[in-house]
Amino acid sequence: MEGRREGVMQAFDCWWKESAVYQIYPRSFQDSNHDGIGDIEGIIRRLDYLQWLGVGAIWLSPIYRSPMKDFGYDISDYRSLDPVFGTIADVDRLLEEAHAHNIRIILDMVLNHTSDQHAWFLESASSRENPKRDFYIWRDMKGRRYPNNWYGTFGGRAWTLDRKTGQCYLHSFLKEQPDLNWHNDAVVAALFAELEFWLEKGVDGFRLDVINLIMKDVQLRNNPLGWGGRPRPYDLQRHLYDRNLSGSHERLKTFRTMLERYPQRMLVGEIMVDKPGEPEIAASYLGTGEDELHLAFDFSGTWLPWKADAWKRAAQRWERAIPKSGWPCWVLNNHDTRRSITRWGGNIGRARIAALFLLTQRGTPFLYYGEEIGMRDHPVRRSEMQDPLGLRYWPFYRGRDGSRRPMRWDGSMNHGFSDTTPWLPFDGQDHTDVFSQKEDRSSLLHVYRDLLHMRNHDHALRCGKTQWIEIEDSPKVLAYTRDAGTSRRLILLNFTDKEVFFRAEPVQKAMESEVLRVLYSTIPGDTSVEGTAQKLSLQPYQGMICTQG
Ligand code: GLC
Ligand code: CA
Repeated sequence: MEGRREGVMQAFDCWWKESAVYQIYPRSFQDSNHDGIGDIEGIIRRLDYLQWLGVGAIWLSPIYRSPMKDFGYDISDYRSLDPVFGTIADVDRLLEEAHAHNIRIILDMVLNHTSDQHAWFLESASSRENPKRDFYIWRDMKGRRYPNNWYGTFGGRAWTLDRKTGQCYLHSFLKEQPDLNWHNDAVVAALFAELEFWLEKGVDGFRLDVINLIMKDVQLRNNPLGWGGRPRPYDLQRHLYDRNLSGSHERLKTFRTMLERYPQRMLVGEIMVDKPGEPEIAASYLGTGEDELHLAFDFSGTWLPWKADAWKRAAQRWERAIPKSGWPCWVLNNHDTRRSITRWGGNIGRARIAALFLLTQRGTPFLYYGEEIGMRDHPVRRSEMQDPLGLRYWPFYRGRDGSRRPMRWDGSMNHGFSDTTPWLPFDGQDHTDVFSQKEDRSSLLHVYRDLLHMRNHDHALRCGKTQWIEIEDSPKVLAYTRDAGTSRRLILLNFTDKEVFFRAEPVQKAMESEVLRVLYSTIPGDTSVEGTAQKLSLQPYQGMICTQG
């Protein structure tokens, strides 16, 4: 796909600054071959919907061959598809059809570790002398003790003893997910070759899984203890030596340089940090803004409580952390977190405000399938649980299955997802689906769609600088402008369930206009800001986008 998206005015020379990205968990999006598991063909069938919605790119969680111990985040062959998802030919078709729909394709790449069934690991584990031995991190036991005190993110020690060769190997996640040795140049070259396979096919970018974990301390020093909580022992340590090593930046620079051989490709990194988020660390992986990742996830938004000032502080902190020539991205939901609407008690009013917040920030917004219809995540029953993390920590932690339930397309028996029982049950408490929300002009789906289309055609909303406005007499109202020089937008968000009144003057001043005109309201038909006024008002959970009169 060359050049510009039809009807969309592009201000930057790169698509990934201007398009909204939609994350698909492929197992749960659309089944096409009656096995209850979503697949590539299913995604192709839903491209019309995604174009209608207004997203410019989709990110697919891993689709490669995998023993599925961690549902695809354990890759056994980077160059072939897992048969449940289809074939390479299906991906070729997806690329072609998606591009014809003006939608880019971002693949998930897991480069910190592979599956223990990957050919590299099988070779590596076969003998101490094998040329691939040093592709992974092997060490002798210290007597009966492991080489250091590191824990796996999913529980247990980060080391597993291999009886055959008498050494143990490092794994930051499951023991079936051995960590690659990024100190070895041959590993970096081999991984890039796998990326090139997909770049040659025309894939537009990669989401890099836990990319801040790739480098480990050369001496494998013990992590000091920190404070953390149950249930994971992993949280009891300060991750000085198994995360964010300075060498990871050097490695990413090399990757970026290699990637630049292919025009218009993008890298977005998952930066794993402790709750409630450390945006400065995420931002550090943007390097100067031009020499490491193109985008990095700050997960503060996935943990925010429903408090206006917390949202404002998180946004300001993230913006401040971004290097001058860098670009932020924003996310409220993904396949590892509780769905945001569930965190907010299923409140649709809040979901509308959150959508308006997400889609009017300066930066690339990331949506997670089902977010646009307010799909929730009630945890699945123990007997139905699939996620290894939930299985390990149940009942203290009930895993990630809740946010990975199948998409609800319509009101039919299997909700248009499949014609058979799906791999994870639908959420019985949800009474929502795409079909019914499409019919209902006042639905959450239409809020997302309206905003996405508006954003696609509004220079200030995509590119404008953000300026926050203090609303002293109503601090639970967030107000900011997006200023692109030639045009300026005002965004007002009422975080409360009450009608609020506040002095008009501060926003009028920020807009350099007495008269404000409503361009969009989350409550259809309400344009109470219109005209000149001493006081402005917003309905409970009302959000608005205004322009100068
Ligand atoms: C990332 C993924 C998560 C996966 C883990 C291990 O955090 O988002 O789903 O389990 O990495 O690969
Ligand atoms: Ca299927």
